[in-house]
Amino acid sequence: MLTPLRGQVYERLEAFEDHLQMELGLRAASFGPLYYLDHPEGIGQDACFWNQNRWLRPFRLSFGSISEAVTALRDMQRNWAPRLFTQFRRGALIQSQLPFLSTKPRTFPWLVPDTPVGAWTLLDAHTLIGSTHCSSPFPGGVISFEEDKEGPPSRAYLKLWEALVRFKKWPGPGDRCLDAGASPGGWTWALARLGAEVSAIDRAPPAERVLAMPGVRWIKHDAFTLKPEDIGPLDWLFCDVICYPPRLYEWIQRWLASGLCSNFICTIKMQGKPDLETPRRFAAIPDSKVVHLYHNKHELTWICGAGNVP
Ligand SMILES: C[S@@+](CC[C@H](N)C(=O)[O-])C[C@H]1O[C@@H](n2cnc3c(N)ncnc32)[C@H](O)[C@@H]1O
Repeated sequence: MLTPLRGQVYERLEAFEDHLQMELGLRAASFGPLYYLDHPEGIGQDACFWNQNRWLRPFRLSFGSISEAVTALRDMQRNWAPRLFTQFRRGALIQSQLPFLSTKPRTFPWLVPDTPVGAWTLLDAHTLIGSTHCSSPFPGGVISFEEDKEGPPSRAYLKLWEALVRFKKWPGPGDRCLDAGASPGGWTWALARLGAEVSAIDRAPPAERVLAMPGVRWIKHDAFTLKPEDIGPLDWLFCDVICYPPRLYEWIQRWLASGLCSNFICTIKMQGKPDLETPRRFAAIPDSKVVHLYHNKHELTWICGAGNVP
């Protein structure tokens, strides 16, 4: 028997479970790595960011045999990612009879398919909780890329790649990009590889091999004391500066007010205690999403621009 659930399920991030608990409050029920909140609208649909994946349309399935569970899932859609914390043998048998879901490393740029990827788990031998739609387009919120071990001077480019894949768009040849807090240059490297014109702002210089890439120039400056008018029109603004979130928010407000840029990807970095308020203010900006990317650490990513940010 299939019963829709009213709330949402949140997959915890191993290292930041306390952040999720703070966001959800005491009303959430937990089972294994999952939290269930009955009335997510009570906390604001998009006010919860410290999770690996959010199950948007959860249901409970009471089933008799394994084949009954498999048929029920297959009848709903093709893609299902398991998040098992008990009943591992039974869960593996169910997953083995579902269509294959590739988790191979992707080559950037990769256009993530629109097909929904569901999630499911077992509560006991005859009870499955699942969701056809999830907040992350990646199975279980996890993505890996074919890495470049020689070009980029830091691995920070992986979170930029992930953000661009989630945005489903990226800079093209000649696009004007500002990369604030650019050094040692992982993001600048990734942008220059796409053929973009990159102004890399940092007090420290980017790696020489990045500075030598076509289209890259270094501006030795404090990013936050440069006015949008000093820079001029941009296609993309990127920021990976380590700073208190309100400082970033205030700077971004100036850019939004200037109307000089339409696409933004910024890391909201936590300094000690998590700031729960500022990410909500970022998420309230039109055409925005705040997410914890698989490649994020103690930080969130704000993605903003026209288009459908999944
Ligand atoms: C986490 S690192 C950025 C890594 C970079 N995205 C990459 O891919 O290699 C943060 C950088 O921000 C720079 N930074 C800190 N405060 C800054 C400011 N006010 N303006 C510009 N850069 C700043 C630091 O010098 C540091 O290089």
